[in-house]
Amino acid sequence: MNLLIILLLVLSISNTSGFNYLVVSPAFGHSHSTFMGKLADSLTEAGHNVTVLSIIISSKFRNISYTKSTKDIVVVETTTEQDQLTENMENDDFARYWTQEGTMLETIPSYLMFLKMAEDGYKTFRDHALPQMDYLKNNRPQYDAVFFESFFFMGKAIQEYLEIPVFLPVTSITHDYRFAELIGEPVSPSYLSGYFTNFGNIMNFQERLTNTISYYLGQILIAFPNWKTLQDPSKDLLVESEYHRAPYVFINSNPYIDFPRPLLSKTIEIGGITVDVKKLKSEKVDEKWDNILKKRPHNVLISFGSMFKSIYMPDFYKENMVKVMKSFKNVSFIWKYESEETSFANGAENIIFSKWVPQTALLADSRLSAFFTHGGLGSVNELSYLGKPALLCPLFADQIRNSKMLTRHNGSIEISKFNLENYNTLRSALHSILFAESYSENAEKLAKKLEYQPTKPKELFVRHAEFAARFGEQPAQDSNLRTMGFAAYYLLDVIAFLTSFVLLVIFVVFIMIRQIVKLLTIKSKRD
Ligand SMILES: *[C@@H]1O[C@H](CO)[C@@H](O)[C@H](O)[C@H]1NC(C)=O
Ligand SMILES: *[C@@H]1O[C@H](CO)[C@@H](O)[C@H](O)[C@H]1NC(C)=O
Ligand SMILES: *[C@@H]1O[C@H](CO)[C@@H](O)[C@H](O)[C@H]1NC(C)=O
Ligand SMILES: *[C@@H]1O[C@H](CO)[C@@H](O)[C@H](O)[C@H]1NC(C)=O
Repeated sequence: MNLLIILLLVLSISNTSGFNYLVVSPAFGHSHSTFMGKLADSLTEAGHNVTVLSIIISSKFRNISYTKSTKDIVVVETTTEQDQLTENMENDDFARYWTQEGTMLETIPSYLMFLKMAEDGYKTFRDHALPQMDYLKNNRPQYDAVFFESFFFMGKAIQEYLEIPVFLPVTSITHDYRFAELIGEPVSPSYLSGYFTNFGNIMNFQERLTNTISYYLGQILIAFPNWKTLQDPSKDLLVESEYHRAPYVFINSNPYIDFPRPLLSKTIEIGGITVDVKKLKSEKVDEKWDNILKKRPHNVLISFGSMFKSIYMPDFYKENMVKVMKSFKNVSFIWKYESEETSFANGAENIIFSKWVPQTALLADSRLSAFFTHGGLGSVNELSYLGKPALLCPLFADQIRNSKMLTRHNGSIEISKFNLENYNTLRSALHSILFAESYSENAEKLAKKLEYQPTKPKELFVRHAEFAARFGEQPAQDSNLRTMGFAAYYLLDVIAFLTSFVLLVIFVVFIMIRQIVKLLTIKSKRD
């Protein structure tokens, strides 16, 4: 009897405290989908009603489901015109970064392609997906809040169409300065490096100059969308002037890994939420990988992620890498490689090529000695939490910043992609990361800190999501920085005023002294 009452009580409590959330997740790129999926799962596990609206941007990602515990997944296809674009992006556009520096001018076309993809996707969505939106409207309870990636403006349109009172933008990267600026966060190019530059937090004069130019160039090139709303094709979809209304924004940055920088209190850092250390450590690799790992005393995993394919690496990089790896007789190298054509490595017994690798399970295995990676944020977070030393070889965009961010902790080494053809540099970097103990010690130290982080990313996320659903918009948290003019923000008016005042005083004093001197000389002449 008592038990029944308790049970009923528990049930009624969980019922009344549950909120309804919509998570808009573009199925484009592993890192984006993994991040959004993890957010949905965190809310589901906390007892809330969650719907994932999975928008398939490219059919390549059609069958991928990144949510583990959220059951309510509504799939919308917008792929008609996108497949070719994705194909081009991965095969031609991204492949060029193996040999290009990745400067501002070189990366701009990639960003524009990305924006075009989002815009075409929105058009297709508007033409085909409204019946599905109406289905959501009529068959789901009223949502309390919606999550979407800040650059995925479609999410804002969906929020308005479904009349969801609260929107919570997230970014799957460490920061998005254009977006931060909209909510009134300080993002001066003097200390915060932008999308095109990725310098880290200490910049010399030349870097600050480049960063400042790219900051203003970004304002021109990466325009906010000029779209119409879903419900009324004559009404503008407001993004730029509306984003500040979000009570919180969630970013994939962790304060114990990232560079320190000023943030608003409404910006919640949940970097690391995608890494479930306990679960990963409890998973075991299967027999095939177990046999590989036990063959030699040291093991290195090599992966450049899903977007940057090793097959497109220039032959002279590959040949040098093989030469270096062959020289480490007691190390096995597991190389995520997208083809079976590996004749360039004939005779290298200690290299294992595989189109797919169980990355997290390998990183969690104590027999894996080091990770050789492109420094994608997902991988950087995983190896930080799992305490592995790494050789970071960034190819482009935020990978460059991520690598700088991680090497500060002294558990990893950054190597330029142009040094992949340099035998001595590559060999000595690999040798250090494998055999100099300080790297593994420092990597473990960082993992320990993250383990004891005072409030875990998942808890931060869920508590703030609940607060937002309960209290809605927070006008009192709105930073007035976003409405300040350039002159006021940089104190130009104050500086001009004070300078004029000082000049005036100097002028007056000068005139007075001149008068006095004049009087004195006249007097002395008379005498
Ligand atoms: C959760 O969603 C289901 C339908 O998807 C609905 O029947 C139920 O009332 C919702 N729960 C709450 C607390 O709104
Ligand atoms: C997705 O799954 C369906 C069956 O569920 C299959 O027919 C199709 O080939 C798969 N598509 C991709 C791109 O893997
Ligand atoms: C593996 O070889 C390196 C030299 O290349 C050596 O420093 C290291 O001690 C060896 N490790 C084992 C376990 O034999
Ligand atoms: C990394 O090493 C440098 C140089 O020895 C040191 O100044 C810095 O404090 C170290 N960083 C950490 C996080 O230990």
